[in-house]
Amino acid sequence: MTADTAFWIAAVRARETERRDRLFADVYAHDLAGQRGCAIMAASERASGGENAFIPVRVRWFDDLIVSAAGRTRQVVLLGAGLDTRAFRLDLPADLDWYEIDRHEVFTAKSNVLTDCMPRCRRHVVVADVGGDWSPALLGAGFDPRAETLWVAEGLFFYLPEQAIVEMLRGAARICGSGSLLAADVTGTAGLDSPAMRPYRAWCERNGVPPPFGTDDPLALFAAGGWQLGHVTAPGAPDANYGRLPPQAGGVIPGRTHLVVGQLPALDQASQSSWNNAIRKSGGGTDGSCPIGDVRSPAPVVEHWPS
Ligand SMILES: C[S@@+](CC[C@H](N)C(=O)[O-])C[C@H]1O[C@@H](n2cnc3c(N)ncnc32)[C@H](O)[C@@H]1O
Repeated sequence: MTADTAFWIAAVRARETERRDRLFADVYAHDLAGQRGCAIMAASERASGGENAFIPVRVRWFDDLIVSAAGRTRQVVLLGAGLDTRAFRLDLPADLDWYEIDRHEVFTAKSNVLTDCMPRCRRHVVVADVGGDWSPALLGAGFDPRAETLWVAEGLFFYLPEQAIVEMLRGAARICGSGSLLAADVTGTAGLDSPAMRPYRAWCERNGVPPPFGTDDPLALFAAGGWQLGHVTAPGAPDANYGRLPPQAGGVIPGRTHLVVGQLPALDQASQSSWNNAIRKSGGGTDGSCPIGDVRSPAPVVEHWPS
């Protein structure tokens, strides 16, 4: 079950929280991960040969992006929210509408731990299949299709077939206002056939789960879903490093994982300038361009796999 991966990522967040030089503090992660998350993390690290240094960097990169965007956007949607606790741990405006979409099983586990905790904003839980027609459930939960929205798909695309990702991107683009953004991490193809990925591929075959998704052209993926490039970077680049990863150039380099922010076409000038400020605050470039880097050795590919 891909729901297992939610527990695994929570275990990684719990371990990061215990570090003196932590990139973020998720005080709920330990209880949310439980033994299930720790066991999956251990199995994953046995198969891939060690800790995945990218995941804490990814969490912090999305943290920074969300906090910056929340200064102007009053609506956020987490697609495949998992055991994310940002609604409880980030400094967010109280009038921010925060939607989390995932499977029932994940929300049950989450509510068992977070029962007495107060979110910082207006949190809405939406049980739906992000690979299907999820928009009626989101609209039914009060989502405003005219409002500027930040969509977040963190650690999700890897588990979905390409067509489902494109449909999800299109579905998001159809129901939000001008100035909206959609941020996702997109795995490159370099490691998809690596030995470390074999156990996960075998598990997918045994369980009828789609093989891991990756692409070397994340911008084409976003374009197919109706999103223009807002920003693209990669783990290890100056705006996605935090002193944890071997330095890499930003921009698109075939093979590796990318962190991509799409924007709806026809941003007005005020939204564009506000977005540029948000990117600047989180350490990224501001020209909205897509630097195409040289082809070089890819950074280690992120692996997410259930036990
Ligand atoms: C690797 S976890 C990431 C969770 C969270 N975004 C984070 O970074 O902690 C992937 C999440 O996507 C959810 N997911 C995968 N496929 C899904 C689907 N078709 N419908 C709803 N949720 C899905 C899983 O349940 C899981 O919670």
